[in-house]
Order: sequence, then C-alpha cells, then structure tokens
Amino acid sequence: MRFFLDTAVLAEIEEAAAWGLLDGVTTNPSLMAKAGVRDFDAHYRAIASLTPGPVSAEVLATTYEEILAEARHLYSLADNIVVKIPFIPAGVQAIRTLHAEGIPTNCTLVFSPLQALIAAKAGATYVSPFLGRLDDIGHDGMELIRQIRQIFDNYGFETKILAASLRHPQHVLHCALEGADVATMPFAVMKQLFHHPLTDKGLAQFLADYQKLHAGA
Ligand code: G3P
Repeated sequence: MRFFLDTAVLAEIEEAAAWGLLDGVTTNPSLMAKAGVRDFDAHYRAIASLTPGPVSAEVLATTYEEILAEARHLYSLADNIVVKIPFIPAGVQAIRTLHAEGIPTNCTLVFSPLQALIAAKAGATYVSPFLGRLDDIGHDGMELIRQIRQIFDNYGFETKILAASLRHPQHVLHCALEGADVATMPFAVMKQLFHHPLTDKGLAQFLADYQKLHAGA
C-alpha cells in the first residue's frame, strides 16, 4: 500500500520525503487555503518537484467544458500531476474524456460504492472514498472500502482505491487489511505511524542499562 500525504504544506512534504515514506501527495482547495497559498500554479509546481510520485491537484470548475480546460492546464504544470475531479455528472463526463486523452484523474468526494463503480467505468485512475467524514455522520467508512475493493476485483477494474479523510493510524491499518491501494493521511497521522509506547520504553531501558554498565566500568 502506498502512503500519500494529504497536505499543501511544503515543509511537511519535505520531511516525509526525507523519511522515505512519501509515495505521493493529495491536496484540495481547503488544504491550499489552510496553507495560505495565493499562487496555486506555482505551489503545485513546488509540491510536484518535492514529491517522488503523483500529486493530486483539484479543479475548481463545475461544468464539463470548464473542468476539461482546467484539468488540461493543471496537467501541464508538472509530469506527476493527477487531476482531482469531484464526483458530479459533469466531473464523471470529464474523467471519461481525460482518460481518452491519457490524463490521469482522481475522482474525489466519493461516499458510496456505486459512485466508485461509476468513476471506474469512466476510466478514473484513482477514486477517493472519504472514510473519516462517513464515520463523522455515524456510518462505517471501512465498509465502503471493503465494498469498493470487492466490486473492483469482481470486474477487474484497474482504478486504484485511494482511501482519504483518514484521521488516525487505525484507519491506515484497516485500509491495509482491506486492500486499499493508497492511504492519504495528514502529516500528524504519518508521524504517529512511527510511535509505539513500548518501542520508546524499550529503547529508554536499553540506553539506561548501557549507561549503568558504562558508569560501573
Ligand atoms: O483530501 C481529501 C480528504 O482527505 C479530506 O479529509 O479530514 O477534510 O475529511 P478531511
């Protein structure tokens, strides 16, 4: 399973890349706003240059022709741009056209298995089911991943499941168990993957025991 960072903060992307954990980046207009980005094109270029893998850049247009124009523009910014398009009829129509042109897409705001099936039939490269937001309203986000996995396997779709809206390491674990292709996560969650209290405790004990030996020598 690939790990993507769900952020528009360059320092976070640089740090995750240095850890060797970064397989890609996803952004959305809210994350760009949160990072204080003014020049979106320059920022996408900067993210793409730091990322050893795909970078999702989301369209703001909502009509077919405008989505296509914006998608082609975003794709021209860097070789590793994937155009993120919301699951609306005009978006799905645009995904089909972009697929025929060889432009990779990530269908976002997916909340049902049938939305994922429709996006896959249109030729989406990735679908992004939002787990945390389903959990927030009392639904079972993981069940959505299981159902999409089963549908894609039933029919041999090559569309990748990019699990999004992950809030904690348990989400990442269950995505791996259920066969999601990618987990995109906030920087804080990626950092949490390193930590286990018994690792910290064990290391402290090893170092303390060595120090005692050294002190007694
Ligand atoms: O990038 C889309 C998704 O990961 C958003 O997550 O936490 O805003 O629901 P969240």
